Amino acid sequence: MSKRLEKKIALITAAGAGIGRASAIKFAREGARVIVNDINVDLAEQTLAFIIEQGGQGEVMVADVTDQQAVEKMVKQSHQALGQLDIVFCNAGGSLPSAYAEVSDDEFETIYALNFRSVHYCIKAALPIMLAQQSGTFLCTSSGAGINYSPGLAAYGAAKAGLTSLARSIAVEYGSQGIRANVIAPGPIETPSLRAWLDSLDAKQTEKTTQSTYQQWCEHVPVGRLGNADDIANAAVFLVSDEAAFVNGVLLPVDGAIHAKLSSA
Ligand SMILES: NC(=O)c1ccc[n+]([C@@H]2O[C@H](COP(=O)([O-])OP(=O)(O)OC[C@H]3O[C@@H](n4cnc5c(N)ncnc54)[C@H](O)[C@@H]3O)[C@@H](O)[C@H]2O)c1
Repeated sequence: MSKRLEKKIALITAAGAGIGRASAIKFAREGARVIVNDINVDLAEQTLAFIIEQGGQGEVMVADVTDQQAVEKMVKQSHQALGQLDIVFCNAGGSLPSAYAEVSDDEFETIYALNFRSVHYCIKAALPIMLAQQSGTFLCTSSGAGINYSPGLAAYGAAKAGLTSLARSIAVEYGSQGIRANVIAPGPIETPSLRAWLDSLDAKQTEKTTQSTYQQWCEHVPVGRLGNADDIANAAVFLVSDEAAFVNGVLLPVDGAIHAKLSSA
């Protein structure tokens, strides 16, 4: 079997669960040595245990990606320990929907810090290393909410749209120096956190409906199902691999055709 990420060192943020965990496992299966970042040490160690169980290699780096000093330390330590840094997957993010008028300035800042500032911190810390290597690739996780209107996700969508703009600038400004920066925009992905939130909406319903919120969401997706974390991890492996050497500054929706549906409406 081909190993598309052989000899690569890959840092993945929020790799203790969901898309980050699935990507960490897949990257390792493709031969990368994976630095598993998460704010939660137990979750990060579980991911590393899966990697090792499957014969892969990696280490855990616990850090809060909204803390610039912690991110700088993590990137520096990873580079010093492993001697190179080829892939940085800025994946941390998330938010629960809330009407814009009800989002306080503090809440906005929290959403912005997790979904945008964290990406800036990771890129800022890793870019000098990649420029010195004259090679390296960034991948950032946006969202359908960063491309199209999504109810209750104004702050989150704005932060996700912002990271796409940042990645494009990196691609254009540093592409001639061997740097790539791409963005992946997942549609609804059936991670434990999303499933729990959908179930909580059903629990709050006062009127009896024939369909659960989960079923309604599945119907909204043209392919008829929610995505899973492996759908995103599969696309991520391609985007960070040398097979995508000419793919730079791209925003790739991986969403079962939701973006196609909304943008052609
Ligand atoms: N799940 C979806 O439906 C969906 C859809 C579109 C975009 N996304 C995006 O995909 C990315 C991953 O989402 P997910 O649903 O897989 O996540 P998740 O909620 O399943 O996992 C989140 C992980 O992030 C870690 N984490 C939280 N705050 C952190 C911090 N400050 N520093 C480091 N780690 C932190 C948590 O401990 C946890 O392990 C996010 O950027 C999210 O916005 C998700």
